[in-house]
Amino acid sequence: MYDNAREILSQANHIEVFTGAGMSADSGIATYRDAVTGLWENVDPQAMASIDAWHNDPETMFAWYLWRAHLSQQAEPNAGHVAIAQAARGKRVTVTTQNIDNLHERAGSEDVVHLHGSLFEFRCTDCATPYAHHIDIPTEQVPAIEPPQCPVCGGLIRPGVVWFGEALPEDAWAEAEHRMKTADALVIVGTSGVVFPAAGLPMMAHAREIPIVEVTPMRTDLSHLATVVLEATAAEALPAILGE
Ligand SMILES: NC(=O)c1ccc[n+]([C@@H]2O[C@H](COP(=O)([O-])OP(=O)(O)OC[C@H]3O[C@@H](n4cnc5c(N)ncnc54)[C@H](O)[C@@H]3O)[C@@H](O)[C@H]2O)c1
Ligand SMILES: [Zn+2]
Repeated sequence: MYDNAREILSQANHIEVFTGAGMSADSGIATYRDAVTGLWENVDPQAMASIDAWHNDPETMFAWYLWRAHLSQQAEPNAGHVAIAQAARGKRVTVTTQNIDNLHERAGSEDVVHLHGSLFEFRCTDCATPYAHHIDIPTEQVPAIEPPQCPVCGGLIRPGVVWFGEALPEDAWAEAEHRMKTADALVIVGTSGVVFPAAGLPMMAHAREIPIVEVTPMRTDLSHLATVVLEATAAEALPAILGE
């Protein structure tokens, strides 16, 4: 299976890599839906990921997102992140991620689109102005942190992530769509493929009949689109199929 995937990818000039929470699992960052370690087993997602929740209790949510930013900073890119970044030395390799951590960038990938925003960007809840000032990321988990106020309008500064029911950033979406419509091969890594609109992107690539390699320990809602499904983790499979 690995040989087959390597062969497919070696023939592509532009490989698009589409990643989800499983991409960072080997770095120790919990996924959303994995039964035992998934983030949402311990926290009610609606309670930490909606604009209503934010309006009800911004201090708790701000603390929770800053804690996740801390965990992301503590984590190291895994061999999968590194393999993707290194493959980009020899050919065009672009990354579209649903992840809000910065592990692709820290592994050296330069062409990363964040569909669901970033733990390291903040903006005003009311006027959307990006927040340019420094925000201290605590090194211990605290129950509540007061968000700063917007220097422009006095609104509360919020995490720059996409919550349930919110639209995806327009430029990120347009670029992701463009890649699905132009790449020669697609690699899908660590996404359950159940959250739309992001999960619709691989379908665009599939409609063009380009080869698709999926890396996932368990089959997903996207597996039927794949030319090859590698039942392995990101850190195991990606160096084997993208490495020299
Ligand atoms: N905003 C929120 O608060 C919230 C809550 C839940 C989901 N979501 C959104 O849903 C989006 C999609 O979820 P998702 O698909 O990224 O995560 P997910 O947790 O739904 O799926 C993770 C996938 O990775 C696989 N996996 C686990 N370990 C792996 C490993 N070591 N290597 C490779 N694959 C591995 C799992 O089998 C699973 O298919 C997220 O980006 C997030 O934006 C958001
Ligand atoms: Zn403002």
